Amino acid sequence: MDAQDTAKRLRAISDELSDRFYERADVVRTLVVTLLAGQHSLVLGPPGTAKSELARELAGRVEGASYWEILLSKFTAPTRMFGPVDVAALARGEYRQVYEGRATTAHVAFIDEIFKCSTAALNETLGFLNERIYHPESGGEPIRCPLIGAITASNELPSGEDTAAIYDRLLVRIEVGYLADPSNFAALVRSAVSRPVAPARTTVELAALQHAVTEAVPAVDVPEGIVDAVCSCGPPCAARNSSPPTAAGGRRWACSRRPRISTAAERSP
Ligand SMILES: Nc1ncnc2c1ncn2[C@@H]1O[C@H](COP(=O)(O)OP(=O)(O)OP(=O)(O)O)[C@@H](O)[C@H]1O
Ligand SMILES: [Mg+2]
Repeated sequence: MDAQDTAKRLRAISDELSDRFYERADVVRTLVVTLLAGQHSLVLGPPGTAKSELARELAGRVEGASYWEILLSKFTAPTRMFGPVDVAALARGEYRQVYEGRATTAHVAFIDEIFKCSTAALNETLGFLNERIYHPESGGEPIRCPLIGAITASNELPSGEDTAAIYDRLLVRIEVGYLADPSNFAALVRSAVSRPVAPARTTVELAALQHAVTEAVPAVDVPEGIVDAVCSCGPPCAARNSSPPTAAGGRRWACSRRPRISTAAERSP
């Protein structure tokens, strides 16, 4: 696998999406680096700020990947997320689930309204995000999920203890807002009424991305100065009373190494 070619492709994808979405260059680059780091991200912002479209467009650039998307509500059953019951098998007296096309088999995921996750699906969602496993309804060995990273979105920050656990698993959090520059707003309006032109569409192969995430990125040395800079932010403090918690727990500090080295890998010539 050619890591340089993968880095080049990811840069091209970042550039193309930054051209397509106004005032989203930082968001695009952050999402790409987070994916390269094998981590999950949260895009937080009001309705109509291109959260969903950007997430879909980026996920669609991973060629050969299994993509799964869901809009969560407090009534979403875990089987809807991880695999409904196989009715044909049930008629034969077997209890099985159909995993194809669900979170269980996804390489890249977009989970909209992540903090509306139902209580029933919470534990499996936490295990899916953190350990990348799913416990089948019928019991037995947990299933290993091939998830590289999930992009999640929400209009608001979580308020309860349950959703705080999900929030903790979203290492990278980005806020988006409405367009600030009137000329970008005018360009958006113009693009909506003009004839669409087929933009350049660079893709990256799933196998190349997986190789980058598991081999090339971890092989990058993190300079001591970066480690010192992270340490200087201090250990997690007891800010549990704030909602959502403002302190980064041990998990987030431990994971934070990966986006830093992914940034280095993505930038390498
Ligand atoms: N900065 C932007 N650049 C380009 N298009 C944009 C931008 N902001 C919004 N749009 C357009 O607005 C439309 C709505 O975007 P989208 O559905 O992704 O919003 P959203 O943030 O997911 O909203 P919601 O929170 O309601 O789900 C899309 O067609 C998108 O092209
Ligand atoms: Mg949306």
